[in-house]
Amino acid sequence: MHNNNFDPKQFRQALGSFTTGVTIVTTQGPDGQDYGLTANSFNSVSLDPPMVLWSLNKDASSAPVFTGSKHFAVHILATDQETLSNRFAKSGTDKFANLSFGRGHDNIPLLEGCSARFECRTTYQYEGGDHIILVGEVLAFEHFDKAPLVFHSGGYRRLQQSAEQHTPPYGENWLGFLFGRAYYQLQLSIRQQLAAMDMQNIDFELLGMLSFSEGRTLAELRQLFEFVGKDLTQANLDNWIAKGLLTLRQHSDESERIYFTQAGQHLAVQWLTFAKAAEMSALECLEFEEAQQLKLLLSKVIQHTGSALPEHWRKENIWQENNLWQQAEGR
Ligand SMILES: Cc1cc2nc3c(=O)[nH]c(=O)nc-3n(C[C@H](O)[C@H](O)[C@H](O)COP(=O)(O)O)c2cc1C
Repeated sequence: MHNNNFDPKQFRQALGSFTTGVTIVTTQGPDGQDYGLTANSFNSVSLDPPMVLWSLNKDASSAPVFTGSKHFAVHILATDQETLSNRFAKSGTDKFANLSFGRGHDNIPLLEGCSARFECRTTYQYEGGDHIILVGEVLAFEHFDKAPLVFHSGGYRRLQQSAEQHTPPYGENWLGFLFGRAYYQLQLSIRQQLAAMDMQNIDFELLGMLSFSEGRTLAELRQLFEFVGKDLTQANLDNWIAKGLLTLRQHSDESERIYFTQAGQHLAVQWLTFAKAAEMSALECLEFEEAQQLKLLLSKVIQHTGSALPEHWRKENIWQENNLWQQAEGR
């Protein structure tokens, strides 16, 4: 459809869904100065003869130099060159200051550390609206074994290693191992902080369990502990009551149910703060969307495998309203 009235922002966003690499194109001007800019419009054109293209914004301050020069070099940036990409995307600065680089045809600057580099002779130039399309014949190229920097929807991205490229030994690829190890490592800092407060592993479990739902009898709690292969004793409970962290309340059905005291609640909220911090630091290695995706996929597995579980362990009950975890999140 031909339409000149569409919203430029929406058009740009739609174009941004085309994922590209990132390049820096360099040349030398007739004044003997080095010029370069970041460009993601690079593409391959022909294998024989070897040709590539990129498009140059007519408003770029270096536009007259590129259109007037006989040679240019295209550097395909590596994952760790985001800062360099930003440097070359900024007009009016000395982009080459303190950079170590070599020289190619016609003295054009050749940057280091990229994943591939093409030295080209400018062969054709085409009008392209507010851009000029520059086609170059490749005179020489180098290819280094470095992962590329990726650009998508206006932001830098990194390629994720596919499972085939990174296959751990059989046991380490087992879902149970991955869940268990991730869970253990996520909890490590929380356990260490609680250990410094003189709390044992069983205290840690009890704190977690009660934070999701108070008001259980000892028998009910024991059942939940048994389910994960742990043993909760009367002595453990008495210890907490003696410390003033838990209290027993008589219900109308004569059962004695376990609740936090105010001090216990304070401790539970502290635990939740440690837990939130541990979560944030564990997820630092993921993009926001990746972290959301991870949680979504784990929730799916939990739901799928949990339908026959005792009530407490079912996902919908873990996330019931009024539990402390929810309160802490809403703070
Ligand atoms: C990821 C990215 C891709 C870019 N792609 C292009 C491009 O293909 N062509 C272009 O002319 N400018 C592109 N730019 C913008 C230029 O790098 C920017 O305008 C630069 O400041 C121009 O430098 P100059 O004014 O010193 O010539 C891109 C910028 C970024 C961050």
